[in-house]
Amino acid sequence: MKILAIESSCDETAAAVVEDGCRVLSNVINTQIELHKTFGGVVPEVASRKHIENVSDVVDKALEDCEMTIEDVDAIAVTYGPGLVGALLVGVSTAKGLSYVSKKPLIPVHHIKGHICANYIEHPEFRPPFICLVASGGHSHIVFVKDYNTYEVLAKTSDDAAGEAFDKVSRVLGLGYPGGPAIQKCAAEGNPQVIRFPRVNMGEDGFDFSFSGVKTAVINYIHNAEQKGIEINKADVAASFQEAVTDVLCGHLIECAEKYNVKSIALAGGVAANKPLRERVEEMARKKEMSFVCPSLGLCTDNAAMIGCAAYYEYKAGVTADMTLNAVANLPLG
Ligand code: KG4
Ligand code: ZN
Repeated sequence: MKILAIESSCDETAAAVVEDGCRVLSNVINTQIELHKTFGGVVPEVASRKHIENVSDVVDKALEDCEMTIEDVDAIAVTYGPGLVGALLVGVSTAKGLSYVSKKPLIPVHHIKGHICANYIEHPEFRPPFICLVASGGHSHIVFVKDYNTYEVLAKTSDDAAGEAFDKVSRVLGLGYPGGPAIQKCAAEGNPQVIRFPRVNMGEDGFDFSFSGVKTAVINYIHNAEQKGIEINKADVAASFQEAVTDVLCGHLIECAEKYNVKSIALAGGVAANKPLRERVEEMARKKEMSFVCPSLGLCTDNAAMIGCAAYYEYKAGVTADMTLNAVANLPLG
């Protein structure tokens, strides 16, 4: 089954053709990062306007790259939430139009399910049940994937998402947008043990996240130094911040897997591209004799191949949408 998938929930306009949920026939991403860099972060209205300009070319290219036309695909899939509502609407309207004219089924996809399913693309042997840490610019969830269509959220953030904290700390350090890769690069030159930033556990069993405290601690550290006229070592600050976030993300993931007695774990989302985090989780998984996978870097950040993969499992479970499909900014997972 060949699915044409569209993703436009944030600042990437993306389209892909995916066969049987795992074979990526084409994968086109038009990123707006350079545009949003000028503003230091994603400006929702600017993102929507760019999606409108780009979406037709991106879809055309995804079909061209695998020498197909709309007639050759079996269904159209689209991210309908969560995300920026104006940005989502562009993908949803495009997919509805394509589905209407081609008379092919329309498959609505949850963005987070897409991130999780990215793991199946390169690891076909990896299958549920497993526990996945999804950390991106908008979300920090620990999800129990019980089977291909049953997801239970075990933990979430009570304030900022992990990626959001990376982006904000990067901005105060003057390292630019997006913050994750910039912090990772700067941190590579620093010592993560120099400053002990807070590690916060929330919720009844301590699995929930809170990243606003660590973000504020970094901001306070920088302001204090400024007031005293002390020059900070940016690399040490970046490394110590990254260490604090990595400790919490990795710690909660492993503890959840142990509590629920699940021997397989995975990473997903933009923050999963973070090298020290990947290495830490891999090392812990080895120690605990858990199997571990994570998507390659290009499949961690937003893309449409992951949406095509998730759509396959949705369709097999009978999930399709009609022409009333709408974007849902805060679509819950489950
Ligand atoms: O999944 P994604 O592309 O978009 C959302 O769904 O939000 O994630 C983007 C987020 C940004 O906050 C970015 O700073 C972060 O992922 N990110 C990273 C890295 N690469 C991207 N965070 C830490 N380390 C990285 N190498
Ligand atoms: Zn995402």
